[in-house]
Amino acid sequence: MRYLSVTNTANMRRYTRPNWSATMPIDASELRRVMGHFATGVTVVTSMLDGRPCAMTANSVASVSLSPPLVMFCPDNESETRRGVEQSGFFAINILEEGSERISRDFSARGPKIWDGIGFHAEETGAPVFEDSLAWVDCSVFAQYPGGDHLIVVGEILRADAHAHGNPLLFYRGGYHTLGS
Ligand SMILES: Cc1cc2nc3c(=O)[nH]c(=O)nc-3n(C[C@H](O)[C@H](O)[C@H](O)COP(=O)(O)O)c2cc1C
Repeated sequence: MRYLSVTNTANMRRYTRPNWSATMPIDASELRRVMGHFATGVTVVTSMLDGRPCAMTANSVASVSLSPPLVMFCPDNESETRRGVEQSGFFAINILEEGSERISRDFSARGPKIWDGIGFHAEETGAPVFEDSLAWVDCSVFAQYPGGDHLIVVGEILRADAHAHGNPLLFYRGGYHTLGS
């Protein structure tokens, strides 16, 4: 596969990590509560694993670069979607519209996902792109970096589109919201 895999920190800037953990323990649920104050959109990231679609709801999505056009997301190391992305070398990010809470919930459940009623097609890379998302990007894996219990995946955008109308589904403090709600 033609992408960069950084498995050690040799070419990353070294930094000194302060020993905060002794004075400020932070467990997973507290970290979720604090970072839940960072409002995000909601996406479903799709790929292929063993010839079948795989997907997960994800909000760890960010724009990275305009030239080349890069985006990133962070799948859990144990997730099926991480395996699919690593195996196939591609993924799509489908940005959900308001009213898509059920899709977000279905694709955040562990195990096989419910694809019934989801219209999708394979885009240029082969990643499933939803017909009814607000916007989507189709990416080949550009780089990946270790990120603790998650993987930091950077994708180069090969194709992208957005609907002219529609509002996003938002996620804030553990709940779903719409613009102005
Ligand atoms: C709003 C929301 C955002 C999420 N974002 C992420 C994420 O960025 N990375 C991640 O690994 N899991 C995230 N999850 C959890 C995954 O959707 C969930 O673990 C899913 O079952 C993984 O599926 P898979 O193992 O089939 O890939 C999120 C869940 C919700 C509801």
